[in-house]
Amino acid sequence: MRIVFLGPPGAGKGTQSQRLGQYLEVPHISTGEALREASRNGTELGKKAAKFYEVGKLVPNEFVVEIVAERLLQPDCRSGCLFDGFPRTVPQAEALDRLLAEQGDKVNVVLQLQIDNEELINRLASRGRVDDEVETIKERLQQYAAWTNPVVDFYQQRGVLCQIPGLGTPDEVFARIKTVVDATPTK
Ligand code: AP5
Ligand code: MG
Repeated sequence: MRIVFLGPPGAGKGTQSQRLGQYLEVPHISTGEALREASRNGTELGKKAAKFYEVGKLVPNEFVVEIVAERLLQPDCRSGCLFDGFPRTVPQAEALDRLLAEQGDKVNVVLQLQIDNEELINRLASRGRVDDEVETIKERLQQYAAWTNPVVDFYQQRGVLCQIPGLGTPDEVFARIKTVVDATPTK
């Protein structure tokens, strides 16, 4: 099962993909986490990426496509995986299609977590990551509108998009996700 989580910053992609990964017993791939880890480790890619994500801009497509391509080759991803925060641009979505097709696979379902701006600003302000300053959150939202909304359309046209209300407790949101995933054919 290959599942993509879409949604603006603070929508709950990380929270819910972690839960779903445990439920399905498949890894979850977060490009945001991978970039922060690369930066903590002081790699060249990490240093370059931090210049973008610290100010709320998307990093260049090739950075994240390379991360995902390498991760997909790991044996634990063979039977399935979840994508948290990837793809975020149409070229990334096309790259993901190609990478999965090489393994005879495809995206089964795309879960779009929906949440209003007021709620997400409250959530992020109380978390305090390096990119959680109000001005940076606004930039992240603009980047989402410019680059990721077209990805929503891309998957809608494929008939794999499923909208999930992101308000409520994490348990309530997970129950909605589980209902959709349990009903999704794997092939
Ligand atoms: P990334 O790390 O993916 O950040 P994001 O998309 O901005 O989203 P967040 O991680 O802030 O939110 P989330 O939806 O995961 O919600 P969470 O569960 O954490 O990306 C960071 C940056 O890296 C990007 O800006 C970009 O620069 C770069 N990047 C990453 N991927 C890229 C790509 N593919 N292409 C280019 N650049 C890329 O929840 C948020 C908070 O709310 C938490 O504190 C949580 O505890 C809380 N919460 C969660 N659910 C609930 C609930 N139901 N009720 C109350 N609180 C809740
Ligand atoms: Mg996250």
